[in-house]
Amino acid sequence: MTVTASTDLRACVGIDRPGIRAEGVTKRYGRTVVVDDVHLDLPLGGVTALIGPNGAGKSTLLSIVGRLLAADGGRVTVAGLDVATSRSDELAKAMAVLRQENHLDIRLTVRELVTFGRYPHSKGRPTGDDLVHVEKALEYLDLTGLADRFLDQLSGGQRQRAFVAMVLCQDTDVVLLDEPLNNLDLRHAVAMMGRLRDAARELGRTIVVVVHDINVASCYADTIVAMRDGRVAACGSPAQIMQPDLLEDIYGLPVRVHEIDDQLIATYYG
Ligand SMILES: Nc1ncnc2c1ncn2[C@@H]1O[C@H](COP(=O)(O)OP(=O)(O)O)[C@@H](O)[C@H]1O
Ligand SMILES: [Mg+2]
Repeated sequence: MTVTASTDLRACVGIDRPGIRAEGVTKRYGRTVVVDDVHLDLPLGGVTALIGPNGAGKSTLLSIVGRLLAADGGRVTVAGLDVATSRSDELAKAMAVLRQENHLDIRLTVRELVTFGRYPHSKGRPTGDDLVHVEKALEYLDLTGLADRFLDQLSGGQRQRAFVAMVLCQDTDVVLLDEPLNNLDLRHAVAMMGRLRDAARELGRTIVVVVHDINVASCYADTIVAMRDGRVAACGSPAQIMQPDLLEDIYGLPVRVHEIDDQLIATYYG
């Protein structure tokens, strides 16, 4: 079955009570449109993988949904809250965001950074309950032994896990993560995707994650959204998206898809 973008797109618009809804979201830099009239509903409770080539508009769209960036047009609602008009403190309790690049001007330990994630709840005065969340998040991301190290004393992958721990520690219903697997080794990448899937399945969280490895999207996501040139080119279940023609079209290179142990795996090396 070949899934064309136009038939496929309907799979992700018009869902009842979506976790995230984008309606006509547009962003321009000068005359260049980088997010182009995106309409998208993402299911409540589940992992959505956002895929697509460099420059497709994934980070821009995610930043708009996460209210890190204002759109030039359209509307986004997250858990029923309009991100443009809702109060910041209300939104911060509903949604946590990991940016693609994370720089801090202050020197913090891992535990201090993760504790900072509780700020929407603690307002700077963490309670016992906040500290329990912090320790749990540290453990979750395999950081307990590194908790007292400063961030500048960590490897890139360890630092990346600390930022993800900070985001998960916020305990929000909606979590947006832009390339959280950056710099992670295989074991930590697999563990992190497993943790995100558990958070979606067991805690009903709505998780959107930008990933470059389409096989990670295939194996861990409930829904895959493929972007190209600022638009949603296709959206659906892994079985609907893991199609050679469709992936070839998105990435501009020949892709084969194999079924291995009930999973759809793409190969694309020369
Ligand atoms: N601040 C900016 N000014 C001008 N162009 C930008 C800016 N940020 C992103 N872009 C452009 O917008 C497009 C989409 O970028 P981005 O959303 O980061 O893509 P992706 O995350 O899919 O790789 C790219 O062509 C990028 O060069
Ligand atoms: Mg990006």
